[in-house]
Amino acid sequence: MKNLQYPIIQAPMSGGVSTPELAAAVSNAGGLGFLAAGYKSTEEVKKEIESVRKLTTKAFGINTFVPSSEPVDQEELEAYRNKIEKEAVKLGTTLGATYDDDDDFRNKMQLFIEEKVPVVSFTFGCPPAEAIEALHKNGTYVIVSVTTLVQAILAVNAGADALCLQGIEAGGHRATFTNDQTGAQEFGILEFISVIQRNINIPLIAAGGLMNGQDIQQALNAGASAVQLGTAFLLCPESGTNPVHRKALKNPRFTETAITRAFTGRRARGLVNEFLSAYTDMAPAAFPYIHQMTIPLRLTNNEEYMSLWAGTGFKQCRELPAAELVQLLMEERAITK
Ligand SMILES: Cc1cc2nc3c(=O)[nH]c(=O)nc-3n(C[C@H](O)[C@H](O)[C@H](O)COP(=O)(O)O)c2cc1C
Repeated sequence: MKNLQYPIIQAPMSGGVSTPELAAAVSNAGGLGFLAAGYKSTEEVKKEIESVRKLTTKAFGINTFVPSSEPVDQEELEAYRNKIEKEAVKLGTTLGATYDDDDDFRNKMQLFIEEKVPVVSFTFGCPPAEAIEALHKNGTYVIVSVTTLVQAILAVNAGADALCLQGIEAGGHRATFTNDQTGAQEFGILEFISVIQRNINIPLIAAGGLMNGQDIQQALNAGASAVQLGTAFLLCPESGTNPVHRKALKNPRFTETAITRAFTGRRARGLVNEFLSAYTDMAPAAFPYIHQMTIPLRLTNNEEYMSLWAGTGFKQCRELPAAELVQLLMEERAITK
């Protein structure tokens, strides 16, 4: 983190948002750009690493999902399928089949090692200490995303160099280590920084609802070494944000966000559309099976059935080239210092 010109990280955003163009633009502007390996084949990820290297000589990061080994209740899964089947019929499609999938975790790890990726971050879990050690041997900086103090302690013990603290405001999936987070205490970002700071002594990256220079400065004042912004970059022309998602972010019809498992079986924050409000609390903790089940609904490109991931600050999204946005955030931050 110390080597960054600006303490601004563009969050890894899967689903096609984090393009090599976006990551390179942010790194070239003095921040740290991130690719997102989740849901992609290892071959696709390799091509993206090659592309980003053509666009920048600066450091960049890549994020990957840690596969879960939690048992899934097949009856609950099928009950959910039965509940949402009528939506597929309405849209003239059929729900997807479900199957085991570890997101090719081992091969992706091997690729990161072969490619000597400068920064690797993990979400949905903490990789084993040996995996972190293998990355360290290559000089790779390792970040683990966490949402609770217990997860933070596990990540530090496994050898993480830094933690990405995900506040409850964050857009997209919760970085929880398990699908079912019932009963765990989660925090708004500023409180989370102070809780972790009292207990942990490695660099902290703050994420969740940070949209402008003032938000950034507050997180840094609270003790973060850097900030990670996702939603703020969704409207940048370099982002691969789906055009329907892009339009929805600017559409006054969407007034709020909520956290749900309805789309993927893992809790995630998105714009409240018809599907989200109808099924908010109905899906079991069954990632990636529910993700696979709802793919055909989301592919219809109907804004009421898509997962429109966004953080609580989405109304402050600015439609600017990524380099300009980074520059503006730094200028705003300087004013509020
Ligand atoms: C569209 C979208 C996709 C995301 N995909 C990922 C991902 O693949 N991996 C990950 O670690 N975090 C992902 N996140 C979460 C971000 O890393 C980060 O925690 C979040 O964007 C911060 O909150 P903000 O969106 O309010 O800035 C995603 C967020 C969004 C909005």
